[in-house]
Amino acid sequence: MPLYPDDLVEEVRSANDIVDVVSGYVKLQKRGSVYFGLCPFHSEKTPSFSVTPARQMFYCYGCGVGGSVLTFLMKYENFSFVEAMESLAQRAGISLPRQEYSPQMKQEADEKQRLFQVNREAGRYYYTLLRSSEGRQAFDYFKNRGLTEESMRNFGLGYSDKFGDRLYRYLKQKGYEDGLLRESGLFSYRERDGAHDRFWNRAMFPIMDVHSKVIGFGGRVMGDGEPKYLNSPETKIFDKSRNLYGLHIARTTKRPQLILCEGYMDVIALHQAGFDNAVASLGTSLTGGHAGLLKRYTKEVYLSYDSDGAGVKAALRAIPILKDAGLTVKVISMQPYKDPDEFIKALGSEEYQRRMDQAENSFLFEIRILKQSYDLGDPEGKTAFYNEVARKLLGFAEELERNNYIEAVAAEYQIGFEQLRKLVISAAARGSALPKKTQSPSSNRGQKKKEDGIKQPEKLLLTWLAEDVRMFSVISRYITPEDFSEGICQKTAEALFGQYKSEGEINPAKIVSSFENEEEQREAASLFHAQIGALTKADMEKALKETVIRVKAGSINSRLARLDPADMAGLQQLISDKRQLEQLEKLHISIE
Ligand code: CTP
Ligand code: MN
Repeated sequence: MPLYPDDLVEEVRSANDIVDVVSGYVKLQKRGSVYFGLCPFHSEKTPSFSVTPARQMFYCYGCGVGGSVLTFLMKYENFSFVEAMESLAQRAGISLPRQEYSPQMKQEADEKQRLFQVNREAGRYYYTLLRSSEGRQAFDYFKNRGLTEESMRNFGLGYSDKFGDRLYRYLKQKGYEDGLLRESGLFSYRERDGAHDRFWNRAMFPIMDVHSKVIGFGGRVMGDGEPKYLNSPETKIFDKSRNLYGLHIARTTKRPQLILCEGYMDVIALHQAGFDNAVASLGTSLTGGHAGLLKRYTKEVYLSYDSDGAGVKAALRAIPILKDAGLTVKVISMQPYKDPDEFIKALGSEEYQRRMDQAENSFLFEIRILKQSYDLGDPEGKTAFYNEVARKLLGFAEELERNNYIEAVAAEYQIGFEQLRKLVISAAARGSALPKKTQSPSSNRGQKKKEDGIKQPEKLLLTWLAEDVRMFSVISRYITPEDFSEGICQKTAEALFGQYKSEGEINPAKIVSSFENEEEQREAASLFHAQIGALTKADMEKALKETVIRVKAGSINSRLARLDPADMAGLQQLISDKRQLEQLEKLHISIE
């Protein structure tokens, strides 16, 4: 449901020249038709942040952020879409209509309000129970784990009692209707005997959003038992991949970084020890949504994951996700203890602070772990290790930064700087350059590559389409928006084809700002910024043909995978598309 009509968004956007606006924040220098400056979203020493007046877009070749003038303000000022619209409208003297909500939107908003209320009531109920005689065991449990009463209060800890449906009856009696209670995730409904409390004789951790509103719960068994933690399911107000435990407190920390750990108890133990900057993801692995959220509050994240194999694996997974969001990452070692909770209990906060001061650069952490899977005593293993390191070093696009890392790795791993640098160069020559995105640990590299393998040609097509009006008539002979992968790629392609058909030219910034979410804007903007070297016309035609074929083949394959076996018409269509693709391979595509 868009908040403003497209025309209005476009009016506001186009009334604010992106070069003017960005110049207020970043010192820009003109090079040809593009302005360059130091990227405000990651730290760098040579400018890779570009603003293109013709497209009214910005894009950083270093960290991949990009978008329209609206995206820029959303990122720079931490504005929501509405706030960015308001700010730019005011700047251009355009008045915005008062927000009018449709009946559906109103109903949705009301329902969310009611869900917040139910969760708050439940939180109070558990909270009170913990401090009553019935909650004694849970209270002692928390105490035995070293929590002070102040910490229990700060985190709103509670207890869910032994009766199967007492919370349910309590909330019903307060007037909450079944439909809402069902949506709240706090109850399970059984056909035979109706509603039951989900949480039962557990130590309760309320989960808050950044505005300190209760959105769900985690409940721990006191002692041993399965499952150790039971959590609220996702609901209309509880999105696990966009909330972090403890962030409602950590967001106001005076410390310059945020600490990311795994567990509820880790967060509380760290806060109690004075690290009010600790947060945890909610029993789910880290997502780009979490990373984006962290990025709103800090530039630097310290990973304080469990020291076991699972924790190391989780850290290797998290690092590229955090880096992709433009965060600097360091890794804190909890050895020889299992997790921050146990570490603090054993060694105290000063020692934890020392570990923070000694935290390892995330790249060097990755290399150290990588080393463990090679036999360095064997010449072959050693060569393979250094080559892999060289390949990973290529992920640093900036020369100075890359050299600094080559130097650090060389010093640590018994290889000369020059020797390693040569390996990096030959890795580059072999074309194994890693775009920033694929700096991922080996565990998920295969999967990532596949994803990028599909998207890269699509990105190239979209970039060409945005670059040169003549390309549309060529490309649209073979490709339709449905050939792009579902989601942002396809939506962007649809918008682009639509603009060509209705206006005869395209406006990428308009397309980008039609996405209201910052992450989507950034992704859409990156679609228009595939890196294309200078090509001769013949090379260009060859590249174009290959790209069209790859996109078309990808589209046929993904439709084939999804095809309902009973769908004969669909199958016919695929067969005919496939035949067309074979024809295409014999064809010469000309861009005259
Ligand atoms: N978790 C979960 N469900 C489980 C186990 C874990 O949701 N069955 C989530 C919880 O958020 C938990 C986190 O994963 O806090 C980390 O798990 P673990 O390391 O087992 O939990 P700890 O917080 O260390 O648990 P405790 O110290 O209470 O034993
Ligand atoms: Mn623990």
